[in-house]
Amino acid sequence: MDKIKVMTVFGTRPEAIKMAPLVLALKSDKRFEEITAVTAQHREMLDSALEIFKIKPDYDLNLMHQGQTLQEITSAVLLKLDCVIKEAKPDMILVHGDTTTTFAAALAGFYNQTALGHVEAGLRTWDKYSPYPEEMNRQMTDDLCDLYFAPTTLAKENLLAQHHDLGNIFVTGNTAIDAMHETIRDDYEHPIFKELDPHKKLILLTMHRRENQGPKMLATFKAILDVVNSRDDVEVVYPVHLSPNVQKAAHQVFDNCSAVHLIEPLDVVDFHNLQAKSYFIMSDSGGVQEEAPALHKPVLVLRDTTERPEGVKAGTLALVGTDYTKVKQQMEKLLDDQEQYQRMAQAKNPYGDGKACQRILDAIAYHFGLGERPKDFS
Ligand code: UD1
Ligand code: UDP
Repeated sequence: MDKIKVMTVFGTRPEAIKMAPLVLALKSDKRFEEITAVTAQHREMLDSALEIFKIKPDYDLNLMHQGQTLQEITSAVLLKLDCVIKEAKPDMILVHGDTTTTFAAALAGFYNQTALGHVEAGLRTWDKYSPYPEEMNRQMTDDLCDLYFAPTTLAKENLLAQHHDLGNIFVTGNTAIDAMHETIRDDYEHPIFKELDPHKKLILLTMHRRENQGPKMLATFKAILDVVNSRDDVEVVYPVHLSPNVQKAAHQVFDNCSAVHLIEPLDVVDFHNLQAKSYFIMSDSGGVQEEAPALHKPVLVLRDTTERPEGVKAGTLALVGTDYTKVKQQMEKLLDDQEQYQRMAQAKNPYGDGKACQRILDAIAYHFGLGERPKDFS
């Protein structure tokens, strides 16, 4: 058989970070020919990840614009990717996660009757609007796909609950953990460390989700501000997402507080290493909920639901939500209660062993009649 032609499609920062190790693994495996197509739903934040992993896309749809709507992203991906698929004629398209790029790219692949693989398949909150629109993006993507690369056993069970075929589900671990094997360094230095007081506890903050923008985000920021202003043993670093709504809220609340450092989004190497240096993390990010447990960092999750309950069960993640009083109390508890801190910090990482990419490659080869079915990650 000729090489299996696999097209990876991604568009935002988290997809790029988690697809990058897979792109590199596909490129260096003789069984495959890899084609990279980026939608550039994100521009700067995507380019930062591409640069770190030295990936030059074969196709770049370059579609981001300020204030883009879900409808605009979906229709632009659908129309532009259609031409790319017709020209490149891949044997399989791989999409990742739950963004609008993910769903629209899967739909474009389906309309071309191209085999589809979903990396990070099977995550669920079972709540249509939380997170919005990601929960339905991933469910609709799974309806369209042929192969499922579920990061955990729970994700596999979710897929089975929706009657996806057991034979097409592979439990692989999360490629985020593969990426971290490349990025974390003990001797890491960054200019932001020089601005921080080493005697203070460092809280790393990220918040960007659409359903949190507005009053929920402002209430959370106000709680953080009040905790920081009430004591002298903490500092917060917040690399602010480039979404204009998020930028506005962050500057509105934190601009006059010297203990909260608002900085540009970090490249992934900086961000991973800053996570490793932090005392704990506060975030509504999906990816951070997988990475922090691998670094034994507690996370206060600024959301009402999570599709990553494995980390809550393991004890590293606490689902806090966005209520002012709850955020404030949980922050103070984690800062002052050593027993709770140690319990969260010592929990076991449930998300992967750094070998997810190899399992995904072997699963694709197996699907095309080459080699053995890979053993599931457990
Ligand atoms: C998207 C995903 C979300 C994911 C997040 C990761 C959807 C619907 N949402 O949300 O699931 O968690 O990415 O970060 O797919 N912008 C820039 N430069 C960039 C990136 C964004 O200027 O490099 C600004 C633009 O004004 C853009 C806005 O941010 O219009 C929002 O970007 P968008 O991709 O629509 O939504 P995110 O909130 O980033
Ligand atoms: N990240 C980064 N720089 C930052 C903030 C986050 O590289 O300033 C990385 C983080 O390590 C994780 C990913 O971006 O791998 C998470 O992306 P994001 O929070 O934007 O999206 P989500 O995971 O919520 O979809």
